[in-house]
Amino acid sequence: MSSPVNYTLTDNIGVITIDSPPVNALSQAVRQGIMDALDVADSDGSKAVVILCDGRTFIAGADISEFGKPLKDPWLPEVVNRIEATDKPVIAAIHGTALGGGFEVALSAHYRCALASAKVGLPEVKLGLLPGAGGTQRTPRLAGIEAALQLMTSGVPIAAAQAMEVGLIDRLVDGDLYEGAMAWAQELVAAGAVPRRTSEQEIPAYDAAIFDAFRGTLAKRARGQIAPQRIVDCVEGAATLSFADGLALERSKFAELMDGEQSAALRHFFFAERQAAKIDGLSKDTPTRPVESVGVIGGGTMGGGIAMSFANAGIPVTLIEISDDALARGLSIIDRNYAGSVKRGKLSESAAAACRALISGATDYAALAEVDMAIEAVFEDPNLKKDIFAKLDAVCKQGAILATNTSYQDVDAIAAATQRPADVIGMHFFSPAHIMKLLEVVRGEKTADDVLATCMQLAKRIRKVPVVSRVCYGFIGNRMLQPYGQQSQLLLLEGATPEQVDGAMESWGMAMGPLRVFDLAGLDVGYKAREALSDEEKGDPASYRVPDLLVEAGRLGQKSGSGFYSYDEDRKPTPDPVVHEIIQTAAADLGIERRKISDEEIVERLIGALVDEGRKIIDEGIAQRSSDIDVVYVYGYGFPAWRGGPMYYGDSASL
Ligand code: 3HC
Ligand code: NAI
Repeated sequence: MSSPVNYTLTDNIGVITIDSPPVNALSQAVRQGIMDALDVADSDGSKAVVILCDGRTFIAGADISEFGKPLKDPWLPEVVNRIEATDKPVIAAIHGTALGGGFEVALSAHYRCALASAKVGLPEVKLGLLPGAGGTQRTPRLAGIEAALQLMTSGVPIAAAQAMEVGLIDRLVDGDLYEGAMAWAQELVAAGAVPRRTSEQEIPAYDAAIFDAFRGTLAKRARGQIAPQRIVDCVEGAATLSFADGLALERSKFAELMDGEQSAALRHFFFAERQAAKIDGLSKDTPTRPVESVGVIGGGTMGGGIAMSFANAGIPVTLIEISDDALARGLSIIDRNYAGSVKRGKLSESAAAACRALISGATDYAALAEVDMAIEAVFEDPNLKKDIFAKLDAVCKQGAILATNTSYQDVDAIAAATQRPADVIGMHFFSPAHIMKLLEVVRGEKTADDVLATCMQLAKRIRKVPVVSRVCYGFIGNRMLQPYGQQSQLLLLEGATPEQVDGAMESWGMAMGPLRVFDLAGLDVGYKAREALSDEEKGDPASYRVPDLLVEAGRLGQKSGSGFYSYDEDRKPTPDPVVHEIIQTAAADLGIERRKISDEEIVERLIGALVDEGRKIIDEGIAQRSSDIDVVYVYGYGFPAWRGGPMYYGDSASL
């Protein structure tokens, strides 16, 4: 087999080119190839060495698929040390994304240049790891302690220009990267430049209090996660130990994390997310339809956010509302959201204005005649939705995709209201739709393959993570929420308080406890939904007695200032004795004896309920695979990624 690493001597410059699709990950063959190339470069007439990559990106990191298996020589730390030890100038030339071990290769080179479009980063923390090939020791020497901590504990890549500002990159290249890197190499040779080893550089001055400050912030921001704290330990080591001792510290902490449960869970999740984009039985070559314009029907909570998601990806949107007033209200909320993004520094004023300009409004469905896709987001009323689909069928051009954002309704019944059920699909966004990453793509009985393939591709374009669901009440996510919510209600009646249930779940890692979630969504939503259900569908009356009583007492959740909690103007929740009393009375009425409930029981019963329902969803073929359910819960419901998702956790904890 030929090596993925090629070496040539061009004039007096040795060029190491890595070509290992798709992302030039540092597999054993790549690591060995780099070592072999350096051996040649050591002994030929080269005066400098350039390392660069073919394909869409510079090295995107260690090969994650090798993790958890016995390591094969040469190890990456040896490779980077070998690069740095080379006694002629080594220049890394970066395009695409230099990530993790890939960026550590660049940091061990003596000089770094990049295209302005490139990004660099150390995202190991997202895999429950720390940079394990010198990154924790070299980054602070170049960028200073604070920038290094920021880069590694967030895991978020930065643009080349910003990397240059903090000293991680020396030069931006305009035009062709190869030409630019070769010209710079010649310049360095002509100037008599020598190897400039990062390990030999002094750490810029810093305030020693910074380490504890970061530890404190991370204890809150990355609650429960081990890797961010270990990164701080290693960077502190970089500041206080010799380079060799710092590397040894990094090596031991890296090994500890690699063997731990959190990294195993996060690695599972990395592949789960990518797997979710694949549809069993659908060929990769399935054709897709062009989507260059979109209509959104209903400019309320969801419609406005959906419109923004498309506009943010450069796709023009026509928003349809029922009246001029409703349209003006919908558009003004969009304006407010964009203003908020500008204020928080998420978007520049001109970028926000450009996105906003892509959204226009109308009250006449005729405005949708030429759109490539229409997404309905009106009230959750099945008859209204069917009426709207009949109208869309009448006005939209042939070939347009007709999607519904329904949370619960039968997508097949909605499709049957049209003459073109093959063009109908569910696109279930999550609130706030312009921020939440999850998109459940609901495949109806008659949905055409190219419609499904188009929606999966489109999801990526608007920066969502798509997961396919078949049709059932609540699809994957909301269906699982039902037994989870019901358990939380039973626990209240059996002896827990709302704050104990939420506290236990949040300490375990959920972004928000179930009762705070219900208060946020509005207790009236579930109340109204239950009105449409039969007693059998509603399940155990104990599981909705308390929320019914709360709604009947005018406590609708955050929107009315009280629900399971009382809320102040800043929507801060406070436990409320009135609620405790309502719960106790309800328990007495139902003949339930209250007892002391442990936090462990709360977690086990709630997560157990999710897992049980998830298994039914797999058995019924609603989800394609259990890892898809993990993706739904992490991206849509605040489940901690470092626990791998409910199904992964359920299997590993034998629930
Ligand atoms: N190892 C193995 N496979 C990888 C990989 C890696 N580091 N990075 C990406 N892949 C695979 C994906 O699984 C996917 O495979 P598939 O087509 O079979 O599903 C394929 O490459 C393409 O990946 P994406 O779908 O994610 O492609 P995008 O273009 O959307 O994104 C990317 C490209 C930004 C590079 C993204 O893949 C990414 O973020 N990769 C992970 C980067 C990372 O975490 N690096 C650090 C690794 S840990 C490390 O380096 C430890 C070191 O410090 C010792
Ligand atoms: P909403 O009440 O905020 O907005 C609905 C909008 O539709 C209103 O502005 C209304 O004026 C408009 N509308 C009603 N009839 C119309 C018609 N005939 N033509 C054009 N516009 C019309 O409701 P929300 O929360 O945005 O929900 C919309 C849909 O999204 C529902 O199906 C809901 O189940 C679903 N959904 C809601 C989520 C949420 O968290 N709110 C999450 C995911 C899906």
